[in-house]
Amino acid sequence: MTQTVSRPAGGAHRPPLPLDVEAIRADFPILSRTVRDGKRLVYLDSGATSQKPRSVLDAERDFYENHNAAPHRGAHQLAEEATGLYEAARARIADFIGAAVEEVVFTRNTTDAVNTVAYALSNAATAKEPSFRRYAVGQGDEIVVTEMEHHANLVPWQQLCERTGATLRWLGLTDDGRLDLSDLGTVVNERTKLVAVTQQSNILGTINPLEPIVARAREVGALVLVDGAQSVPHQPVDVAALGADFLVFSGHKMLGPTGVGVLWGRYDVLDALPPFLTGGSMIEVVRMEGSTFMPPPQRFEAGVPMTAQVVGLGAAVDYLQGLGMDRVQAHEEALTAYALEQLQAVPGVTVIGPPDTVARGGAVSFTVEGIHPHDVGQVLDDLGIAVRVGHHCAWPVVRRYGVPATTRATFYVHTGYDDVDALVEGVRSAQRFFGVTPEEATA
Ligand code: ALA
Repeated sequence: MTQTVSRPAGGAHRPPLPLDVEAIRADFPILSRTVRDGKRLVYLDSGATSQKPRSVLDAERDFYENHNAAPHRGAHQLAEEATGLYEAARARIADFIGAAVEEVVFTRNTTDAVNTVAYALSNAATAKEPSFRRYAVGQGDEIVVTEMEHHANLVPWQQLCERTGATLRWLGLTDDGRLDLSDLGTVVNERTKLVAVTQQSNILGTINPLEPIVARAREVGALVLVDGAQSVPHQPVDVAALGADFLVFSGHKMLGPTGVGVLWGRYDVLDALPPFLTGGSMIEVVRMEGSTFMPPPQRFEAGVPMTAQVVGLGAAVDYLQGLGMDRVQAHEEALTAYALEQLQAVPGVTVIGPPDTVARGGAVSFTVEGIHPHDVGQVLDDLGIAVRVGHHCAWPVVRRYGVPATTRATFYVHTGYDDVDALVEGVRSAQRFFGVTPEEATA
């Protein structure tokens, strides 16, 4: 599938996109609606949550219409079918990230997955079962994060440190939006118990070099958790190649439903962790005096799970695999290159994050001189263009770059050059509306 596009005025770099945008758009019912009095929906907020193709919606509807039951309980036919669909989805998702099936734990979302690990590590110290104490975090230990983490991969670690007396340390950022690894060797040291790092920044777009971080963590015996919320939906990710201990991501950012996420963990590590949430379905034997727990993944899946959402996520993975993750990444890279070029050509626009596509994903954050990002977002919304404005749940990042907030555009499989053109023209409209009209912008 290749889309041929025309070259816009000004000689912009606009090679054919790897994905057939028009065909893909037809798969997403919501993209055929209009917004703001009949305007085409230009959806540039997939980083917050992605839209859903019909196959995902159909999979969820089919589950409820034909198979609905609580999996792993009950001996009736519907319960068997629900269990089969739930576990088949787990197998497809495991295959998608190159994992073993029993290493895939379903959670509500990325935040839930990070908290599951953080509470397991702090509960480990007091676990009755000695084999659960191996990774206990306590006084004198250190947890390392980076300054570009989403709050979901920062606040749970701050809270873990408050609960245990451990210390939080972090790797800083360079002026061009990359990780500053110059003090990696001292920040990650013999006291480090875990390093938590994002693979792709939700605000800067930066794709982080995980190899040296994982290698340093291995040297000192620390665990590594990779936040894949913004990478798994947008690039091929293989847990064996990653070399980390945990990978966490959300279904709703990868064409799947809300309410389902994934905690992948190396089996031997998961097996040495106590549960966070306890209750039904995760137990082996329950007596009034105490209980024993199932092995992973069930140990971390207390309660009736979000079955329809898991089935929907399985369908989302099928859809992405049908497109090919290499092509999804190449598609977004072409759009990002174009967006960076076009936005940076607008006087008054400053991109916050890497200015080129080297090791960079499709989150493009920017400021417009003289206009608050919330006002930029308002003008864009009036034009039917959905972007996110604010600190993007990564407050330390906007603070690091000395801005109150940014406007952020994020791309996905249905994004085309026309969406980027609409964004750039929308920014120029905002400049005209607020009377901030650098000469070239109005030319
Ligand atoms: N984590 C989501 C974002 O970056 C909500 O917008």
